[in-house]
Parts: sequence; C-alpha cells; structure tokens
Amino acid sequence: MSVLNVQQLHKTYISKGNIVCRALNDIDLQVEQGEFVGIMGPSGSGKTTLLNLLAATDRPTSGHIEINGIDPSKLSDKQLALFRRRELGFIFQNFNLLDSLTIKENIVLPLVLEGTAPKLIEAKLKPLVEWLQIADLLSKRTYAVSGGQKQRAAIARALIHEPSILLADELTGSLDSGAAKDVMELLKELNERQQATIFIVTHDPFTASYCQRIVFIKDGAIFSEIRRGSNRQAFFQQILDVLSVLGGNFNDTPFARI
Ligand SMILES: Nc1ncnc2c1ncn2[C@@H]1O[C@H](COP(=O)(O)OP(=O)(O)OP(=O)(O)O)[C@@H](O)[C@H]1O
Ligand SMILES: [Mg+2]
Repeated sequence: MSVLNVQQLHKTYISKGNIVCRALNDIDLQVEQGEFVGIMGPSGSGKTTLLNLLAATDRPTSGHIEINGIDPSKLSDKQLALFRRRELGFIFQNFNLLDSLTIKENIVLPLVLEGTAPKLIEAKLKPLVEWLQIADLLSKRTYAVSGGQKQRAAIARALIHEPSILLADELTGSLDSGAAKDVMELLKELNERQQATIFIVTHDPFTASYCQRIVFIKDGAIFSEIRRGSNRQAFFQQILDVLSVLGGNFNDTPFARI
C-alpha cells in the first residue's frame, strides 16, 4: 500500500479574490512503504507548498491527498492534531527546537503533551538518543549544542512517535558539509534498517544523492524522475545532469562535496 498518495493536486494562492500564484499544477505522486524519496526543483517551484499540503497546514485548491489511507482534509481540527502527531514526523531547516527547554524536553514534548507515562517516555527516548549519539547532551539547552546536534535532536523528536512518514524541508540547509553527511547517513540507516518511509525536499544534490528516487518539479508541475542504482556517486552525477537541464538557481550549491 502507498503510504502517500497524491492525485491531481492543485494549489492556487488567492488573495482578496485575485489569483496570486498557481503554485502547484496537477501533481500525481505515490510513495510506498519503506521508500526514501526526494523532491528537487528551482526556488519557487512549489516544494514547500507541497510539503505544507502534505502536513495539512494548508489546504489544496483541488485534488486528493491520502497518508496511510487517511485524507487529512476530511478531519476535524482535533482529529487533525492527532493525525499530525501520530502519522507525521517533521524536520525543518532551522530545527524548530524550543530554546527555553533542554534537548531532552524538546525530544519528549510530543509524548508529554499526550500524557504518556514517564517510564514509557524513557523507554522510547533511550534507544533513539543512543542511535543519534546525543545521549550525553540531554540536559543541555539548545544554544549549547552544535547545528548537527540540534538537527539530530529534531530527528529524535520527529521519530519518537514512530510516524508513518518522515517529512523534511531542507533539513541540511543550515548544516556544514560534515554535519549534513552525518545526518543523511543516519536517515539512510533508518530507511534501510527499519524500512522508514522518508520524504525530503532539498536544493542540495549531495543531500539528494542519499535518496532512492528523486522527483523534480518545475513551475509547480512534475518535470522528471530518476532512481538510484547501487552507486551514490553516479546518482549524484545524474542529479547534477537533471539540474543543469532544469535550470533555476542552483548556483549556491557547493558541487565539490562528494
Ligand atoms: N502564502 C503564499 N501566498 C502567495 N504566494 C505564495 C505563498 N507561498 C508561496 N507562494 C508562491 O508559490 C510559489 C511556490 O512557492 P514555494 O515556497 O512552494 O517554493 P519552493 O519550491 O519551496 O521555493 P524555495 O526553494 O525558494 O524554498 C512561489 O512562486 C511563491 O512565491
Ligand atoms: Mg521552500
């Protein structure tokens, strides 16, 4: 079964009765259980718009979205909050950690909000933070840890609910190349060992080269799709080739990082 099923999705931004922007135009997309998929496209092509629709923080103009068989547009506000917490894990470019909390408090916040028993919280926390190598940082505040460590804490927070799908928008965008590589190696491991379904948006070909499949979008429509063979370096080159055809502003991309 597809974890994610998107059909004929359109999103038009309207302000005061006027069409401001046709951001997505007839997007069809399926993501199967255990897939690791990336979305790439020039700035303004509609990537964040797509993620916002999947996260149900915004509504489609028309078309259909299903995550694990559930259409978020059919849920009440209360059901939607539960759906987000149970089915989705989010990772953002700027981490979105709360600075007033410790790393541990940030990670377990979703469980605390649900009234999970402290013992169960500890049992879920321990293997995650050990795997992500942040077990020693739990009592620290967010300003006292590195960007890579913050992002690993954000990954722990996103995973503590065992979501059906992990969604990420430019998750390596604020990281140096070493930390970006560490984070992507961890996601690869998560995907391969636990068949986690991962869906990321990225500008960065190096980050994208960790995916099994890349869907390129341009001007709000699907442009092409490529799949990785066994060799990540070859896939990286393939991604660069598509980007050169696609155009747009990939100039800020450090290409010599493989
Ligand atoms: N709230 C909004 N109201 C009106 N237009 C919007 C709104 N949000 C986005 N847009 C427009 O929709 C288009 C797609 O924007 P989106 O943020 O999805 O692009 P993106 O691919 O994520 O770009 P980037 O790579 O720069 O993050 C752009 O033309 C943008 O100006
Ligand atoms: Mg964006």
